[in-house]
Amino acid sequence: MSTNAIGLNTASAERLAGGLNELLASYQVFYMNARGYHWNIKGENFFELHVKFEELYNTLLMKVDEVAERIQTLGHQPLHSYGEYVKISTIQEQTNVTDGRTAINHILESYQTLIGQQRTLLTLASEANDEGTSALMSDYIREQEKEVWMYRSYLGE
Ligand SMILES: [Fe+2]
Repeated sequence: MSTNAIGLNTASAERLAGGLNELLASYQVFYMNARGYHWNIKGENFFELHVKFEELYNTLLMKVDEVAERIQTLGHQPLHSYGEYVKISTIQEQTNVTDGRTAINHILESYQTLIGQQRTLLTLASEANDEGTSALMSDYIREQEKEVWMYRSYLGE
């Protein structure tokens, strides 16, 4: 059984890197969607949502970098073109969203998708004894579950 530079099974690390690349692609598309919401939102909640969506795209951008660098740490190359991201992202591109509630519904769906992807990766990472990836996924899941609660509360649900 061969191991990589950080002592993980080579085949497991490759499988994890593949899953993390799909997650990276989803984060990149979600990031660009969030910028669109930030720019295009209209209505009486503009000031509040404009700021909230800026916070959202900043946190997504940070995760883009963390996930990409985790892939490198596992010994693999992160995807780095929008052409590839759009092909494998589990989140679809959203354009021309001007209504706050519509944007928040898209955000909720995107978080639910990401949380699912991350739970699958968490299981895979645990099976591979990859504590680094497990911890990263746990942090993201916990943080985003709370975001889901808050966005749903904003909608009055
Ligand atoms: Fe801005």
